[in-house]
Amino acid sequence: MPPHTHPVIPDYLETNYWWAYVHPLAVSIFEREWLVNFILFGNYKRLCGIALDSLGERISGKTLQIACVYGNLTARLVQRMAHDATLGIVDILPIQLENLRQKISPDPRVSFERSDSCALPYASASQDQALLFFLLHEQPQATRRASLSEALRVLKPGGKLVIVDYHKPHAMHPLRPLMRQIFKHLEPFAMDLWQHPMHEYLPLNIKLASIKKTTFFGGLYQLLVLER
Ligand SMILES: C[S@@+](CC[C@H](N)C(=O)[O-])C[C@H]1O[C@@H](n2cnc3c(N)ncnc32)[C@H](O)[C@@H]1O
Repeated sequence: MPPHTHPVIPDYLETNYWWAYVHPLAVSIFEREWLVNFILFGNYKRLCGIALDSLGERISGKTLQIACVYGNLTARLVQRMAHDATLGIVDILPIQLENLRQKISPDPRVSFERSDSCALPYASASQDQALLFFLLHEQPQATRRASLSEALRVLKPGGKLVIVDYHKPHAMHPLRPLMRQIFKHLEPFAMDLWQHPMHEYLPLNIKLASIKKTTFFGGLYQLLVLER
């Protein structure tokens, strides 16, 4: 992409998530750890820990965080980075990049890039690891496929993609009816992740060395670690 052009904000974000990310007041409302934790039924810290542990106790090499996250996930990630490691953070919304920039101390190892997860401005096989934390459930199927394809494209052979997102809970999960309503009214694409396993959205042209899946909190959340 030529450097002077900016990615277009996708329709699904403006239509379905303006209240959570796009609106100028969204950051001041949602940038509260207790609120994010409430939305995740008390699991925010745990899910961040799971994602970070999957990246490594000590994170080395080049890491890409695809999409900003409310709360302290990125600050915790930076704390684990080796002195010569780097973190690239991409997001399509300048307001989200700016919010995250302000949350972490200035660090020459960390860079911010405005970009669509479907067209990452990184060379193929250039990253050691990538993180997708609760992005994919917000995206329509074609976008989700493109995001996964891009995340895997930029990984080096042996590199790791860590995904944390929603998953179909067990049949008797007490929060199942509530989550159904939340998805129906607020998260129109999230139900896909109950109906289809994540591997159905993976690109067919990229061979993976391994896929490890773990579920949490009665199956409502999943961790996937994909190795190229
Ligand atoms: C990671 S998701 C949701 C994370 C979680 N709900 C939280 O606690 O913040 C939210 C971020 O994804 C970004 N985003 C959505 N679609 C995107 C896309 N196609 N490319 C890059 N960033 C995107 C939004 O701008 C927002 O900053």
